[in-house]
Amino acid sequence: MQIRFRDAPAASPARLIAQIVDQDAMPAGIEPELVAGARTSRFAGKPGQVFDGFVSRGGNVVRVALAGAGEPGAKSRLASLERAGAALTARFLTSGETALEIDFAGTSLNAEQVAAVLLGARLRGWRYDLYRTKLADDQKPTLSEIVVTGAPAGSDAAWATEEALAQGVEFTRELVTEPANIIYPESFVARCQKRLAGTGIDIRVLDDTEMKTLGMGALLGVAQGSVKPARLLVMTWNGGTAGDKPTAFVGKGVTFDTGGISIKPAAGMEDMKWDMGGAGAVAGTMLTLALRKAKCNVVGVCGLVENMPDGNAQRPGDVVTSMSGQTIEVINTDAEGRLVLCDAITWTQKEIAPARIVDLATLTGAIMISLGTEHAGIFSNDDALAGALTAAGLASGDKLWRFPLAPAYDKLIDSPIADMKNVGPRYGGSITAAQFIQRFVDKGMPWAHLDIAGMVWADSAGATWDKGATGYGVRLLDRFVRDTLEG
Ligand code: BES
Ligand code: MN
Ligand code: ZN
Repeated sequence: MQIRFRDAPAASPARLIAQIVDQDAMPAGIEPELVAGARTSRFAGKPGQVFDGFVSRGGNVVRVALAGAGEPGAKSRLASLERAGAALTARFLTSGETALEIDFAGTSLNAEQVAAVLLGARLRGWRYDLYRTKLADDQKPTLSEIVVTGAPAGSDAAWATEEALAQGVEFTRELVTEPANIIYPESFVARCQKRLAGTGIDIRVLDDTEMKTLGMGALLGVAQGSVKPARLLVMTWNGGTAGDKPTAFVGKGVTFDTGGISIKPAAGMEDMKWDMGGAGAVAGTMLTLALRKAKCNVVGVCGLVENMPDGNAQRPGDVVTSMSGQTIEVINTDAEGRLVLCDAITWTQKEIAPARIVDLATLTGAIMISLGTEHAGIFSNDDALAGALTAAGLASGDKLWRFPLAPAYDKLIDSPIADMKNVGPRYGGSITAAQFIQRFVDKGMPWAHLDIAGMVWADSAGATWDKGATGYGVRLLDRFVRDTLEG
């Protein structure tokens, strides 16, 4: 979806014109038959409502759409405006219309609010039809352009920032949507190298032999059952003060999780192509930060492996030595995400020495039992960091809910043969997973772990996404960077 600002009157009149309408506040100057039609259709200007009808203007038939934006004073005003934009694209994406003009003249929206409408419209219009060669004509998306008119000064600049965000979210969705025969550790790296080229991001890649030399036995133990070699992808953005310690975002990138020898049941296993959603969110965030030239130093680290069962796969009961030197008894080869993250985090601390670490991972099914698909779980050793991330979640819509960490949970992963085991008892599974990761976090290092298993994939359309990959995490981290690192 391209978004274009137009200042001069168009050469030919638009066929489809939308207006943003506040709740119970039909704008002046609209044809009475449209007003009557909207009322009859119970259009009240609530967020997400759309009414459209045809009128004759200056001898042309014009389709006019009204998109509800709710109460002007609502606390979630920007979210409501996003929904208005999103509802318009959802309505017209496959309608046969190719362009939609949104006329902001006569609204009181400021530049930031206009950009919110456009962000919603853009994000809701994303889909990935690469492999659908037989879509019927009337199912194909037609809407490809949104033309903005009557917007206040500064709207284009506000949109430029949000467009960077949209591109990051879209890149994450692409990585998450691609199947595991297309996106595996090496091709994940290649896709990032291609997309990030020319943005100013520095890319470094560690292959399996380098990781072996570094002693990353936990991460490599997961990869050893796969013919696809593991990679560690490091993306560096230095847009802040030179010498300032960076913030590290670390992502779980299991490009497919069969469970390994502790193999998962067949039903639904295809979902495990999106077990790289944490790494995908990190990559998308790096793209956004670079595109909008964020004034911050950030390093994105992705631990990339495929978890497969074969003759060389690790077995339940195997003991592996992590890069930290700590040993791990692998009770369940399906608890592989923490094995990947622990070495990625150790490497990040040793090599980058960041100011803080935020990791993102589709780590546990248990977090979906706890929080469903409304919040990701956050675990942290630092109240300020947890608070800033939670606030960024509320502001961005990528919501977080904090869980506890405590020695009593930590004890549950002690092992009789090694320093720890990789699973605890069934109850509290998301917390013992977080405790496991915390054992690799250096003393004094502010750290937050986000368990995003319930958030990266949606079975039904939401406000600003269609069903499928949501791009969760990019908006959250971008908002955290804006408010905490740049603010
Ligand atoms: N990738 C899964 C977690 C997951 C499950 C993400 C469903 C999204 C949807 C993770 O690697 C896993 O298998 N976790 C196990 C841990 C268990 C063996 C302790 C789980 O949650 O069942
Ligand atoms: Mn698993
Ligand atoms: Zn997994």
